[in-house]
Amino acid sequence: MGSQDGLAHLASAIINPGDYVLVPDPGYPIYEASVNIAGGIIYPMPLLAENKFLPMLEKIPLDVLDKTKMMIISYPGNPVTALADQSFFDKVVTFAKQHNILVVHDFAYSELIFDGNRQLSFMSVPGAKEIGIEFNSLSKTFNMAGCRIGYVVGNEQAIDILASFKSHIDYGVFYPIQKAAVRALTSDFAFLKTQVNEYELRRNVLISGLEKSGWQVAKSPATMFVWASIPAGWKSREFAFELIDQAGVAVIPGDAFGKLGEGYVRIAMVQPPERLSQAAERIHEFLMEYSRKK
Ligand SMILES: Cc1ncc(COP(=O)(O)O)c(C=O)c1O
Repeated sequence: MGSQDGLAHLASAIINPGDYVLVPDPGYPIYEASVNIAGGIIYPMPLLAENKFLPMLEKIPLDVLDKTKMMIISYPGNPVTALADQSFFDKVVTFAKQHNILVVHDFAYSELIFDGNRQLSFMSVPGAKEIGIEFNSLSKTFNMAGCRIGYVVGNEQAIDILASFKSHIDYGVFYPIQKAAVRALTSDFAFLKTQVNEYELRRNVLISGLEKSGWQVAKSPATMFVWASIPAGWKSREFAFELIDQAGVAVIPGDAFGKLGEGYVRIAMVQPPERLSQAAERIHEFLMEYSRKK
């Protein structure tokens, strides 16, 4: 169905109680939840700005790696929107082969990349198909969120296990949605450029609007999100709750995505540029009012 349930079911199909899974922190919540449901043990991989939001594989202790069955990565991801280069993916392949780990790459935002860049599919890296699988979704690229359809490609054995597990749970996707997905995947993708341009414009409008209030936020290289380091003196939850109460702007506190999300909020660019500009203005007023009160 969607990559959400694909990811959720994968852990239940593959992970036994006591198995370790390497999960990015911060990361999309189903990664952690799926391991908890399966009774596995989460080993968080910190994604830090100073390391370009890539995990430091060499820092994971060997006794953890001995018990690790799976690792999850996502470039560009949600909430961390960073891209990964081929040398990182090569490193992941070598690491996974060495420690006998299944790599799961969540590639939901494969077509939403800005500034003329591209992101390699993990599957395009030599050796990746031997040790990895990659999920993709029609929710983002084709605006089919809620229609629940995605796909997974890669290592045959892992996909067989997932397919067998899912055959007991999902009886297939509603036929009109399948037809729509076929139509989408066999289209000429011409609309994608317009879509990327629209999100890129939203990103630029939002970031420059926030800059005016003195809030410097890193430009997302991809996705429909901004992963924003919050102004000094705030905790993520307090900042998000005050923003919604005082300014009527909804953002997600970063710690909802893991411990290391503290100090960040995720802003979704799911409104037109004019509305995002209005949100930035309200945030500006909110921050001015706050500094006056201090
Ligand atoms: C990173 C990431 N992976 C997976 C999903 C789930 O996608 P789907 O709609 O295919 O279930 C989302 C949806 O927000 C996402 O952001």
